[in-house]
Amino acid sequence: MQVFSTPDSLKAFLFEQRSQGKKIGLVPTMGALHLGHLELIRKSVRSNDITVCSIYVNPTQFNHKKDLKDYPRNLDQDLAMLKNEACQVVFCPEDQVMYPAKPGLSLDFGYLESVMEGRQRPGHFNGVALVVAKLFHMVQPDCAYFGEKDWQQLVIIKQMVNDFSFPVKVIGVAIVREKDGLAMSSRNQRLSTEHRSVASELFKALSVVRQQLQQLQQIDKAKLAGVKYLSKFPTINLQYLEIVHSTSLKPPSVPYGKEPLSICLAAFLGKVRLIDNVPLFDNLN
Ligand code: PAF
Repeated sequence: MQVFSTPDSLKAFLFEQRSQGKKIGLVPTMGALHLGHLELIRKSVRSNDITVCSIYVNPTQFNHKKDLKDYPRNLDQDLAMLKNEACQVVFCPEDQVMYPAKPGLSLDFGYLESVMEGRQRPGHFNGVALVVAKLFHMVQPDCAYFGEKDWQQLVIIKQMVNDFSFPVKVIGVAIVREKDGLAMSSRNQRLSTEHRSVASELFKALSVVRQQLQQLQQIDKAKLAGVKYLSKFPTINLQYLEIVHSTSLKPPSVPYGKEPLSICLAAFLGKVRLIDNVPLFDNLN
């Protein structure tokens, strides 16, 4: 496994590989890898000749300095995990390399970022899009893999790829869950024992909403059932629970017309903010 920290050395290596006709897969991460990330790596390793995993805690997508500072970082462990997965290339740049100057460009995704995460975290998707665009330029991958846990992020990255005509196929990979249903996330490491013991209720609430929707097909009632379910757990501070059209992120049609829907939520458990979602129908890649 080769580890690069500068775009020039990475580009030179990948240029050589590409000229031999090799197909390149990119898995962008912020490190603190878990099984969810490994699923992305495995998908890429299966379909590409070279898999590049980037590990970079991107400062421009954090809304609070404290959250950026507290974000878990385990580079040695990450590298060991990647080696085991037969990932060929790791790219771990420093801030100076990714942002030699303060970015002047600001990306506005309109409606897509006016709801849910975009609403709660102003500027977050601008930061995500900036760093992903930089990585696309540096790696020039054929395919790039993103977890469906960040559903809105996936929708926005697909929009960016279309709008900028990046020659990249964006592939969403299903959420990997702990045995009790908690969606895997690097942030789970920061949960206290008390909060960890209720964290799986987030997934249970999403399942309650999904079941209600399947049975009654009444959006408001289903949403209320999920909110009510979570209100039984005083240590869970729900920020939002939304039912949205899976690709436009707009509210579902009334009466519900059987379009693909995603049920998404965000909640604080103590100081740790978690997000999760489930599809009502299988989402389209
Ligand atoms: O999903 C993440 O881990 C990050 O938002 C990403 C895509 C690596 C960009 O920093």
